[in-house]
Amino acid sequence: MARPRIALIGAGQIGGTLAHLAAMKELGDVVLFDIAEGLPQGKALDIAESGPSEGFDAALKGTQDYADIAGADVCIVTAGVPRKPGMSRDDLLGVNLKVMKAVGEGIKEHAPGAFVICITNPLDAMVWALREFSGLPHEKVCGMAGVLDSARFRHFLSLEFNVSMKDVTAFVLGGHGDTMVPLTRYSTVAGIPLPDLVQMGWTTQDKLDAIVQRTRDGGAEIVGLLKSGSAYYAPATSAIEMAEAYLKDQKRLLPCAAWCDGEYGLDGLYVGVPTVIGAGGIERIVDIKLNKDEQKMFDNSVESVRGLVTACKGIDETLA
Ligand code: APR
Repeated sequence: MARPRIALIGAGQIGGTLAHLAAMKELGDVVLFDIAEGLPQGKALDIAESGPSEGFDAALKGTQDYADIAGADVCIVTAGVPRKPGMSRDDLLGVNLKVMKAVGEGIKEHAPGAFVICITNPLDAMVWALREFSGLPHEKVCGMAGVLDSARFRHFLSLEFNVSMKDVTAFVLGGHGDTMVPLTRYSTVAGIPLPDLVQMGWTTQDKLDAIVQRTRDGGAEIVGLLKSGSAYYAPATSAIEMAEAYLKDQKRLLPCAAWCDGEYGLDGLYVGVPTVIGAGGIERIVDIKLNKDEQKMFDNSVESVRGLVTACKGIDETLA
């Protein structure tokens, strides 16, 4: 059987890391697309040359031609501009919206059967625009944010409790950014919810609140340290987890930016929610009942995503 085809639109920091991970995990053959001359070709060749030492079988190709993504099973989109220190994700809206138009049209023409994972920021608005421009079914287009946000939360919690990250689960909802909603009562260490761990004296409420805030600011913390560009190792690893769930029909329960139409009382909006990812794409949205405080935070997050979608419609009238 032919190997699956993975198209990476954007061959920058995240795109290159995605390609390396996809090849090392033998998820399929990789096509790197970028408008920058030579960049995708150079990265494809460099990664291919790591194959003999690492021992993977995967073909890698770099291209400036959308025709080369034909028949892709998965497209992961990182094309666009990343943040610089002092910028919010929302500052990227205008420039990255134009990029989503070009990418959406390229996918529509050459890879309409793909499962599409958007990473470009501001995530929740960009995944919406990409879906509109590509015209693909909503369940085949999603955004990577929740896996990364919960990975950051799990990492910080594992440090606080001095336990393995493997035994920490985390549950986050809402938009990617300052309005993200970490649900502490559904986040656990080996099944013990965080509020119980506070009661057990494993941590204090103040420390937990600080960890939640650090998670919300997780992207900005990296931007501040790197000074040029934003995070790429963890974002790429998170998107690969989603791509693998689709390609291997794993039915993984992963939080991601998914189209909610009815779920969570929404009438058509991309926002971060727990989903089941399998061969059908986003096969299910897990619609949990929120308490009053959580609902308030979620509503706040939804409002900010709606604001960005409205701003997109103002910039590009074909979206209105
Ligand atoms: N089509 C294809 N590629 C494009 C286009 C386009 N229209 N416009 C820009 N690019 C490419 C750039 O040439 C660059 O190689 O997108 C790549 C982006 O890579 P980086 O600048 O290294 O950014 P990266 O760190 O990978 O982040 C990409 O993901 O997390 C988000 O906020 C981040 O929006 C940013 C995106």
